[in-house]
Amino acid sequence: MNQAFPRLQTYPFEKLAALRAGIEPPAGRTLIDLTIGEPKHPTPQLITAALAANLAATARYPTTAGGMDLRASVAAWLTRRYRLPPALVDPARHVIPVNGTREALFAVAQLLIDRTRERPVVVMPNPCYQVYEGAALLAGAEPWYVDCTAATAYLPDYDSVPESVWARCQLVYACSPGNPTGSVLGAGALARLLERAERHGFVIAADECYAEIYLDERAPPPGLLEVAAAAGNDGFRHCLVFHSLSKRSNAPGLRSGFVAGEARLVQDFLRYRTYHGCAMPLYVQAASIAAWNDEEHVRANRAIYRRKFDAVVGILAPVLGVSRPAAGFYLWAAIAADDQDFARELYAHEAVAVLPGSYLGRAAHGSNPGARHLRMALVAGEEQCIEAAERIRHHLGSR
Ligand SMILES: Cc1ncc(COP(=O)(O)O)c(C=O)c1O
Repeated sequence: MNQAFPRLQTYPFEKLAALRAGIEPPAGRTLIDLTIGEPKHPTPQLITAALAANLAATARYPTTAGGMDLRASVAAWLTRRYRLPPALVDPARHVIPVNGTREALFAVAQLLIDRTRERPVVVMPNPCYQVYEGAALLAGAEPWYVDCTAATAYLPDYDSVPESVWARCQLVYACSPGNPTGSVLGAGALARLLERAERHGFVIAADECYAEIYLDERAPPPGLLEVAAAAGNDGFRHCLVFHSLSKRSNAPGLRSGFVAGEARLVQDFLRYRTYHGCAMPLYVQAASIAAWNDEEHVRANRAIYRRKFDAVVGILAPVLGVSRPAAGFYLWAAIAADDQDFARELYAHEAVAVLPGSYLGRAAHGSNPGARHLRMALVAGEEQCIEAAERIRHHLGSR
C-alpha cells in the first residue's frame, strides 16, 4: 500500500453529509443546493449533436495522443483566446487531450515528482481544489499550502513561501480563476511565478478550468502560456496549462479537457498516459472539436452567470461579506460565525445547502483560511439562485 494513502482527507461532500446527518430541511420547502460546482445550464446542442453523430466510433480504439483535428482545434482556440503569435502552439508537440482536468491534475504529479530528491514539495493555494493535495501526497511529496485570505485579496502570496521550501519545490499548482475564491492571478503575478520556476526548476501546473467564466467581457483572465510568450519564453518552459469543457461549455459529463505547454513535458506526460490507459473516446473528441470551435455559446453562458451574480450580490452584499468575484461561478462569502454552524442552520431552517469554507482549507500555518467563509456555487437557475439569496438574507435577519 502507498504509505501516503491514509493521509488522504475525506472529500468535502462527505464531511457535509456528516454535518447534515439526521437533519431534515423544513417540510414543504424545496432544497436549493449551492454546494457542488457542477454547471447546470444545458449542454449546447452543437456538442450533443456531434457526440450523437459519432457514436459509431465506439468500434475503434482511440489513441492517447488524440486526433490531430482535435489538437489543432485546441491550438487554434489557445491562440485566439490568449492572443498568441500564430503557429506558436504546435498541435503535434504542445497539446494533448485529457478526460477532464481532474484526472490530469492528479496524474501529472505522479509523473513529475522525483521522490529520490530530498523531501519534495508541491506548492498549492489554501483553500484549494482538494485533488492537488491528494496528488502531491500519493506522489510522495509534501504539500505546502499558501494561504489566500482577505488580506491578500484571496490570492496566494508566493513571497510568504520560505526560500528553503522553494529549493525543494518540484511542482506548483496555480488555480486561476480560483476555486473557491474567484480571484484571478494577474499577468504580473504569473510572470513572477514563472521567474521563480526558472530559478528553482519547478513546473507550474496552471489549472485554468474556470478561465472562460468571467464577468467583465473586456477583461478575460490572463493565462500562463500568454504570460510565458510575452516574456519571450516561446517554448513554454516550465509551463503546463489545464483547460476543460466542463465549465466553459456546460459539459461536465463529457469528461473533456486538454493539457498544453512545454513540448518535453507534454510528450513525457503523453508517454505516462499511454501506460495509464486514459485515451479520450473518438466520439468525445468529435464533440470537443465542435465545442472548442464555437464561442457563441460561451458568451451566452457568461451572460447568464453575470445576471445571476448581479442579482444575488445585490441581495446579499448589504448583509454579508460578498462582492462579485473576478471570475468563476462561486461566491466566497466571509461570515461573522462558525461556517459549519451556519451551513447546518441554513440547511435546517431555510433548505439552502452551502459548503463550509473550512472544508476546503487547511490549518497549515496556525489557522484555516477557509474558516468563517461559505462557498456558494451559482450553478442553479437564476430564479433558484435569487430565491436562495433571499432565504440566506432572511436567515441572517432572524439569527
Ligand atoms: C479548480 C478545479 N479544477 C479542476 C476541476 C475538474 O474539472 P473537470 O475534471 O470537470 O475538468 C474542478 C471541478 O470542479 C475545479 O473546481
